[in-house]
Amino acid sequence: MDCVLKCWFSQWKNNGEAKLLETMAKMEVKTSLLDNMIGVGDMVLLEPLSEETFINNLKKRFDHNEIYTYIGSVVISVNPYRSLPIYSPEKVEDYRNRNFYELSPHIFALSDEAYRSLRDQDKDQCILITGESGAGKTEASKLVMSYVAAVCGKGAEVNQVKEQLLQSNPVLEAFGNAKTVRNDNSSRFGKYMDIEFDFKGDPLGGVISNYLLEKSRVVKQPRGERNFHVFYQLLSGASEELLHKLKLERDFSRYNYLSLDSAKVNGVDDAANFRTVRNAMQIVGFMDHEAESVLEVVAAVLKLGNIEFKPESRVNGLDESKIKDKNELKEICELTGIDQSVLERAFSFRTVEAKQEKVSTTLNVAQAYYARDALAKNLYSRLFSWLVNRINESIKAQTKVRKKVMGVLDIYGFEIFEDNSFEQFIINYCNEKLQQIFIELTLKEEQEEYIREGIEWTHIDYFNNAIICDLIENNTNGILAMLDEECLRPGTVTDETFLEKLNQVCATHQHFESRMSKCSRFLNDTSLPHSCFRIQHYAGKVLYQVEGFVDKNNDLLYRDLSQAMWKASHALIKSLFPEGNPAKINLKRPPTAGSQFKASVATLMKNLQTKNPNYIRCIKPNDKKAAHIFTEGLVCHQIRYLGLLENVRVRRAGYAFRQAYEPCLERYKMLCKQTWPHWKGPARSGVEVLFNEVQIPMEEYSFGRSKIFIRNPRTLFTLEDLRKQRLEDLATLIQKIYRGWKCRTHFLLMKKSQIVIAAWYRRYSQQKRYQQIKASALVVQSYIRGWKARKILRELKHQKRCEEAATTIAAYWHGTQVRREYRKFFRANAGKKIYEFTLQRIVQKYFLEMKSKMPSLSPVDKNWPSRPYLFLDSTHKELKRIFHLWRCKKYRDQFTDQRKLIYEEKLEASELFKDKKALYPSSVGQPFQGAYLEINKDPKYKKLKDAIEEKIIIAEVVNKINRANGKSTSRIFLLTNNNLLLADQKSGQIKSEVPLVDVTKVSMSSQNDGFFAVHLKEGSEAASKGDFLFSSDHLIEMATKLYRTTLSQTKQKLNIEISDEFLVQFRQDKVCVKFIQGNQKNGSVPTCKRKNNRLLEVAVP
Ligand SMILES: Nc1ncnc2c1ncn2[C@@H]1O[C@H](COP(=O)(O)OP(=O)(O)OP(=O)(O)O)[C@@H](O)[C@H]1O
Ligand SMILES: [Mg+2]
Repeated sequence: MDCVLKCWFSQWKNNGEAKLLETMAKMEVKTSLLDNMIGVGDMVLLEPLSEETFINNLKKRFDHNEIYTYIGSVVISVNPYRSLPIYSPEKVEDYRNRNFYELSPHIFALSDEAYRSLRDQDKDQCILITGESGAGKTEASKLVMSYVAAVCGKGAEVNQVKEQLLQSNPVLEAFGNAKTVRNDNSSRFGKYMDIEFDFKGDPLGGVISNYLLEKSRVVKQPRGERNFHVFYQLLSGASEELLHKLKLERDFSRYNYLSLDSAKVNGVDDAANFRTVRNAMQIVGFMDHEAESVLEVVAAVLKLGNIEFKPESRVNGLDESKIKDKNELKEICELTGIDQSVLERAFSFRTVEAKQEKVSTTLNVAQAYYARDALAKNLYSRLFSWLVNRINESIKAQTKVRKKVMGVLDIYGFEIFEDNSFEQFIINYCNEKLQQIFIELTLKEEQEEYIREGIEWTHIDYFNNAIICDLIENNTNGILAMLDEECLRPGTVTDETFLEKLNQVCATHQHFESRMSKCSRFLNDTSLPHSCFRIQHYAGKVLYQVEGFVDKNNDLLYRDLSQAMWKASHALIKSLFPEGNPAKINLKRPPTAGSQFKASVATLMKNLQTKNPNYIRCIKPNDKKAAHIFTEGLVCHQIRYLGLLENVRVRRAGYAFRQAYEPCLERYKMLCKQTWPHWKGPARSGVEVLFNEVQIPMEEYSFGRSKIFIRNPRTLFTLEDLRKQRLEDLATLIQKIYRGWKCRTHFLLMKKSQIVIAAWYRRYSQQKRYQQIKASALVVQSYIRGWKARKILRELKHQKRCEEAATTIAAYWHGTQVRREYRKFFRANAGKKIYEFTLQRIVQKYFLEMKSKMPSLSPVDKNWPSRPYLFLDSTHKELKRIFHLWRCKKYRDQFTDQRKLIYEEKLEASELFKDKKALYPSSVGQPFQGAYLEINKDPKYKKLKDAIEEKIIIAEVVNKINRANGKSTSRIFLLTNNNLLLADQKSGQIKSEVPLVDVTKVSMSSQNDGFFAVHLKEGSEAASKGDFLFSSDHLIEMATKLYRTTLSQTKQKLNIEISDEFLVQFRQDKVCVKFIQGNQKNGSVPTCKRKNNRLLEVAVP
């Protein structure tokens, strides 16, 4: 690597100079703030320099909408009081990554410069924005923030951080800004915001510090001014529902704390702003309940102002205050969750605790009002501090990595009012301190540095305001120390005693003026009232009313009130008054407002001193808040007190840029072949060599003891551009070498891999070839073997056939020989005879054997001997058939006539019922007896017997089924040649008589039951009651006999229907008899049930 760089170096040696010149030439065409300049963009270039030319230059530029002008790196901003099209995203892009002096002066140029030095040079930055009220500080701070947000990193997380940082502004402005006579959106608190970045320059989060909110505004506003915006925004923008919840009314005039004469501000839509603020709160990360709590506190403050007191005489003659209308108090208590009696007591009594003692005194009306206002002020200012802390919680950086910081300071501007009080004193003190730090860091530091560094220098006079700061903050006899001393002093302390003290201690101070001071200068000064003192600030003389100084410095809130607040069930209010907790009573006085402020300002100054300062000096062009008006007197005054002219002078006399030799050499060493890559000697000589090499004119720089001083920024930019160019070349070189190395290693790897792959491939292909050859050899081999084997086989077969042929020939030959020899011994046709004889013998033998094997003569005997020869098969079957027929005939021939009749009947029954009725098989074995009941013999039936003349074919007891209910009764069933009779079983009396001609049909089921119906001819006499239903054990026999008798008597075949569902005629009705599968309950007897007049169900088991 090193040798490559060296090689490149030798090349560069030859080309370097030419390239340098080329780069220098390119520089010339670059834009500059000098291009198309209106007036002079940088006051350093102003010629001649005087107050008049300075103001004229500013005015000229202002008239041409050029509101920004530089003094070196300081930006002067003149408030245009109208929106200018110079903050668009395109403008942001224009100024992005450009050198400070490259484009016309702009706040974006300063922001870019600060951001880049933070990101690239790791220097913490602070942006100090100063100027009087209404000069545009807050707007400038927002512009800086939005520029930084636009140019720094992107991404979901980063964007959220940016959005939260930006959206903290509307929230703080709503609660901390108010309309004053000087500014419709005047910041009534000081704000310092640290924006934190990571090493890449992406924002991580931020921390906001707030300084002394002007809380007296909550209870009283000067003429023409308003209370804090949030009160008006809430009443105008809240929905009816929210107002109702907060127990508020929309009408401003209902509230004593809201000044009415200037409640509306031109061009400001409070309602819309309310929505913006709520939205911003949401973005910053306030929970809904938190935002609601905040509004509840605001409502409570507003309502506190409406509590009024009246005097009430007491027995001891003293007046005691009483609340006039307790309604408002009640509502406040409901809002805040405080016990009404507790708050009421806190407004009427004051308890003083000293060690063990507790003394309670009543408050008079004035004291009650004082207590009320103190509570309102405290509540509001503590809420504001809580808001700042809450925002900080949301925007604080989530990582612990080292952070780079950019601080933006937007603190209230210098104020001179008609009536200036403690607040103005504090604000102006803060501005004095800022002026001081400006002086220290620019004017004084600059001059001192030149001397330190041994640079030739002519001293420039400027006013150092350290003396004023000392007048205010000196620990022993400063005004703040006096005030604290007075506040802490026992005995009666009033504002007058404080003024007296000042008159004594500060009388001789050049910047302190008072009528009553020991200094006789002011004895006759009528512009100086007795109750006032005047300070000559760096920005002008300010007359302070001493009234209220002691009170405001003490900032007392009666303990009863803070305890009442602590008792609130409202979590936020409770947390705002931790000192109200009786468990944490602290008898020590809290630090005074003045000393607190002094301490926080000191911390701020210390913080600012550690950072690289960037100044924006805001100037207010007129007092009317109007565009296009440039009041020279007003501007002149600001230019004077801001010390801008001195600033230009120092700048012009000095050098624009300085840097220690080491970092300078480190930064630019690549521009010279001797110093790159390493310079062995001391840094200073390295820088000398370097500057010679780059051919920078001698008058453009000076060598100090430890630093190089560059007179003109342009020189610096030349160096920067050369460096940029060189860095690009170096980057290209590194890239080139890296790419070469990468390609080479890649190539070597590929080559190595190629060899490995080739080796493996060769091995593989050889293996494959070998296997192929081996397989081919095997195939060839097998073919040859096969061929050989087949050849041998063929030969062997041939040999075998030859042998067989010889044997056959020999056999035939022998046969012929033998036949020839024996032919004379055989007769013709002897073979046929032998055959027939043999056959006869076999048949004979068969029949003889059959005779002995014959089966029995029983027609049911199934035995039959097996067949001996296949060719006798048909004979054997025929023989079997003939035999069977013969033995059947034999069997029949034995029958008597009676028996023959029985078999005829049985045959008939078989034809009628076989395979149709399940009962049939059981009837086959039963002999058909006909007359089961012996009527002839039983004397009981004598009468019956006498009544019947014909031959009885059947006499049997059956069950007759009752047509109506299906129950059965026993009846004697008699069948004669012509009639069918039914008689009572006991008496033998004939119940019905049906001629056989009237019987049309018999129906029964296919199942195993003895149930049957006898259908009668329609219209016949017997049919008047309808068809009969019977059940009998001898159904098959009875039906067969009925059938045969009817056939023989009427020559008609009786219709026998076998079906599980048939119709019978009962009188007029046709009833369906249906056979179902019944349960086994009644044994094997079927049960019969008349279901309805259409259905009779017979359950068959
Ligand atoms: N760059 C600008 N472009 C347009 N209008 C501006 C610009 N700067 C300031 N203004 C106008 O001037 C008004 C006052 O500005 P700003 O509130 O920033 O003053 P300030 O210096 O912060 O005052 P204070 O000390 O009272 O807070 C703004 O409300 C705005 O209308
Ligand atoms: Mg402001």
